[in-house]
Amino acid sequence: MDIALIGFGTVGQAFAQLLHDKAEDLQARYHLTPRLVAVITQQRGSLYDPNGLNIPHLLTSMRDYDTLAHYPRNDNLQYGWTSQQAVTQSTAQVIVEATPSNLATGQPALDVCYAALDAKKHVILANKGPVSVAYNELMARASANNRLVRFESTVMAGTPSIRLAMNTLRGSNITAVKGILNGTTNYILTQMEAGMPYADALAEAQRLGYAETNPDGDVLGFDAAGKVIILAAAVFGMKLKQGDMSIKGITEITPQMIDEAKLAGERWKLIGEITPTGASVMPKRLPISHPLANIGGTTNAITYTTDVLGDVTLIGAGAGGVQTAYGMLSDLIEIHDTIR
Ligand code: HSE
Repeated sequence: MDIALIGFGTVGQAFAQLLHDKAEDLQARYHLTPRLVAVITQQRGSLYDPNGLNIPHLLTSMRDYDTLAHYPRNDNLQYGWTSQQAVTQSTAQVIVEATPSNLATGQPALDVCYAALDAKKHVILANKGPVSVAYNELMARASANNRLVRFESTVMAGTPSIRLAMNTLRGSNITAVKGILNGTTNYILTQMEAGMPYADALAEAQRLGYAETNPDGDVLGFDAAGKVIILAAAVFGMKLKQGDMSIKGITEITPQMIDEAKLAGERWKLIGEITPTGASVMPKRLPISHPLANIGGTTNAITYTTDVLGDVTLIGAGAGGVQTAYGMLSDLIEIHDTIR
């Protein structure tokens, strides 16, 4: 299965590494032989090789020089392709989009996704922008072209929050969704409770690759809101925009507020909530006995309230390179299984 990867930052590189590390396993267990034929970046060069790129060489060039320019030359290599070229001219059957999320317009990734589907390629997104801005349009375009769009990594990284709701809980009705949906803010709140200043905790979250390229989206609640919008569309068929919901982040939470909550046996958490009638992202004080109060660090959690089972809660990684890359890999395996 030929793959073109758009975006080669923390997540893109982790995805390439995972493809490399799991090559034997993917072949043995799923008869899947992924071949990375294109890597496209905005500022660090782009490479296309119809015979497949060498992943360790790609990663070494990035690690040592922060560019793809030092990838060994060969006669088949094409340089400097744009993402549109990768979509329309490459042998890729699957386009993997892992560029930074633009939650306002979804662009430029959204147009790349449309072009990929029109070129009869499947699409895997780690990028939240296109799915949160144009969920229905993307699905309609996929269906018109008889191709698949998968987006597990857009909510709770590779922890299967989307697959749980859309596949595993089939036959039940989900009536409400509530959770901690941003790893960076949960990490910051956890570190602040342990005495670390806000700015240091944010810097650490950036250094560890949890935060978005522009971390304002994390701390102001917009990243969690993007995930709420995606869940609302996928689970309830609701078409929400940021302006339709209350959104507040954690920037106004002071060490004093954290101490006060602690004295009262409570803890601040940034909570996303969705019901068929509305949605919000708000910091809330939860009693320590509340299950969500005990989700620490970059771990996230989501509770689906269902008609048959009552509450079903999933806890797992919410951010991080390899954690996000795993979601993309699980989408790749699902696409491969579906089209076989
Ligand atoms: N910046 C995001 C977070 C990454 O911290 O949750 C995962 O979407």
